[in-house]
Amino acid sequence: MMGMMDYDAIAVGEMDLAFGRPFLEEMAEKYDLPLISANVVDHKTKEPIFDPYVVREVDGVRVGFVGVISPERHIIAQVETKLDSKLEIGDPTEYTSKVLPEVREQADLVVLLSHTGIETSEFLAEDLDVDVLVVGHYPAIQAQPKEIGGTLVAMAGSKSDRFGILDLTLGPEGGEILRHEGDAIRLMAKGPEVAEITLMAQEADRREKEERRQKQLAAQREREAARQQEKTAKVQDRGGVFGAESCKACHEPVYESWMETPHATAFATLAEADAWDNPDCIGCHVTGIDDKHFVDDVNVAPEVWNVQCEECHGSGLQHARDGSYVTIGEELCRKCHDSENSPDFDFETYYEYGVH
Ligand code: HEC
Ligand code: HEC
Ligand code: HEC
Ligand code: HEC
Repeated sequence: MMGMMDYDAIAVGEMDLAFGRPFLEEMAEKYDLPLISANVVDHKTKEPIFDPYVVREVDGVRVGFVGVISPERHIIAQVETKLDSKLEIGDPTEYTSKVLPEVREQADLVVLLSHTGIETSEFLAEDLDVDVLVVGHYPAIQAQPKEIGGTLVAMAGSKSDRFGILDLTLGPEGGEILRHEGDAIRLMAKGPEVAEITLMAQEADRREKEERRQKQLAAQREREAARQQEKTAKVQDRGGVFGAESCKACHEPVYESWMETPHATAFATLAEADAWDNPDCIGCHVTGIDDKHFVDDVNVAPEVWNVQCEECHGSGLQHARDGSYVTIGEELCRKCHDSENSPDFDFETYYEYGVH
């Protein structure tokens, strides 16, 4: 919503820092937020992390905005706990004074956005050469600004419940304020000025919901992909064998007729012969094992027991529908039906009877 409001300058407050510097920098970049702060500094170099000020031209007047934040203990503590330890809050007077001469040179009017509460703000107004000071981090409302040490001090409440307005009439030289008129519109009130803001808030809400929905969808897709990947990894672990059960879903008649063949119970036959864990026997009575005469890992998974679909057709990972997935040929049978274990093997007869 701050992006949609198209601000000229935004002084960094401690709540903006609550999620840490990288988050704030990402938001600033994404929504093009003109963040400024003279005293949020790198703790080693003591240099400001954001631009200390910006100069904007308003109706031919160059207005310089400087941002400053309070160094009060509770605020810093809040910042330190969550923030990259690389940040530090410098003394407001010292750091603002450093940039003021530079701003004065470029601007006709200098506005200090003082996120410091009332006491520090009044002190800064007294102490520094600025024309207007806007108080932040303080709940009071002062629609008509008060003059302190030659500075107009205005405040429009906190937590965005008011929209502060300060109309200035300047002298011909630019910098001299001849007249001023303030207001602090209550945003909750009904009225034409705030209808636009209400619409904006609704639009921002809608966008946020949509963004959240998209994020949820993406997370769901990611989880689904991870599940698939896990499943595929398991299948790959057992030599690419999905198992006949997984083929059944789409090839039920073939599955049922395969179940009638001795291939579907080949492992039980081995078990009956008390040889289910004999490395010299397993290879021909299970699926997907290349070395038929010696099996290294006798602890074969149940998914590969018996002479299943994929022994003859190849791993389901290579499932095709163009005829290439059907593997026929005597040599396929002869891997197991060798002269020692299947002396009566005759391809034509066996084929008729034993496939599905
Ligand atoms: C992975 C090894 C393997 C492959 C490959 C294989 N078979 Fe078999 N086949 C067996 C085993 C083991 C049995 C015995 C199963 C049982 O009796 O429990 C068997 C049994 C049979 C039987 C039943 C024989 C009987 O006496 O009842 C037929 C028929 C048969 N296979 C045909 C084929 C054909 C045709 C092919 C090739 C298209 C083939 N098999 C490929 C391992 C294999
Ligand atoms: C090279 C592959 C191969 C190996 C290794 C193998 N078998 Fe078999 N086995 C077969 C085939 C093929 C058949 C089906 C033979 C047929 O009916 O023509 C079969 C059938 C059988 C049968 C049922 C038919 C019968 O002869 O009673 C038993 C029991 C059996 N095998 C046990 C074993 C045992 C125990 C071992 C390990 C000592 C073993 N097999 C190793 C391929 C093999
Ligand atoms: C012993 C080897 C063997 C096993 C085990 C086997 N098939 Fe086949 N399959 C064949 C052969 C051989 C053909 C015949 C190809 C042809 O008709 O040209 C075939 C054909 C097929 C076809 C295409 C023609 C048709 O009948 O629809 C499908 C689909 C198929 N098999 C699926 C399966 C499924 C699913 C399983 C497991 C439930 C399975 N097969 C198990 C060897 C096997
Ligand atoms: C999601 C459904 C589905 C699953 C699961 C499935 N298939 Fe298929 N399969 C098909 C379809 C559809 C065809 C094309 C049938 C046609 O053209 O008549 C096909 C074709 C085949 C063919 C003929 C191949 C060719 O190249 O024409 C074979 C063999 C086959 N499937 C075997 C298997 C085996 C083995 C499994 C299990 C590992 C399996 N299928 C799992 C849907 C499936």
